[in-house]
Amino acid sequence: MLCVAVRSQLTADFYSKTCPTLPQIVRKVVQNAIKVEMRMAASLLRLHFHDCFVNGCDGSILLDGTDVEKFSVANINSARGFEVVDAIKSAVESQCSGVVSCADILALAARDSTLLSGGPSWKVLLGRRDGMVSSQAQANLSLPSPFEGLNAIIAKFAAVGLNITDVVSLSGSHTIGLANVPPSAIGCSTSQELELLTAHWIQICCLICKACVQ
Ligand code: HEM
Repeated sequence: MLCVAVRSQLTADFYSKTCPTLPQIVRKVVQNAIKVEMRMAASLLRLHFHDCFVNGCDGSILLDGTDVEKFSVANINSARGFEVVDAIKSAVESQCSGVVSCADILALAARDSTLLSGGPSWKVLLGRRDGMVSSQAQANLSLPSPFEGLNAIIAKFAAVGLNITDVVSLSGSHTIGLANVPPSAIGCSTSQELELLTAHWIQICCLICKACVQ
């Protein structure tokens, strides 16, 4: 029996022949979406993170169905930006049909969102394949929760090959975006949508002195 070891290899120029304008197409749609709503940058960045933590960066967060990642605790009523990903996909398909994976589109959109928000940039390696399976149960297990302790969060990052430095630096993403804060955390009668940083401070404040804001 012949056994062949296969190791996937991502490259920055993966689509240089099949879809040379891919970076510009993605950048333009992301730019337009952010012009309409600045928060969209945060939402697209989070989609890539939530995609990658469940069975790798395979676009599985985008799949529809009854028992899919979209319905997991961390995503339901919270993950957003799917319509922008659809718009990017349509724009890409109109230029180069059937070659670019949705997982790569998410990776490029996350990088562009970060850059256009005034954050750092990085070279996106491409060539991911889209998965055909999306599991709500797996997402519930793999995605970090705000109710978990630091050790559990570190373990979840380690499970995808990320270290403590990665936990700290990637958590810096919370300098953009909004959080839905439940009434119990802020002493209000209804949930509030607050800037993430403000939300964190209010929670810390509540824990320390129970002085909640209305
Ligand atoms: C360290 C573990 C993490 C936990 C426990 C966590 C938890 C959360 C929670 C609870 C929210 C608010 C969601 C809502 O109320 O709808 C949020 C938002 C967000 N998270 Fe995280 N997160 C973590 C790591 C990350 C990482 C690694 C990234 C990106 C690299 C990220 C990017 C974001 C962004 C950009 C938002 C705002 C999304 C928006 O405004 O639509 N988070 N996160």
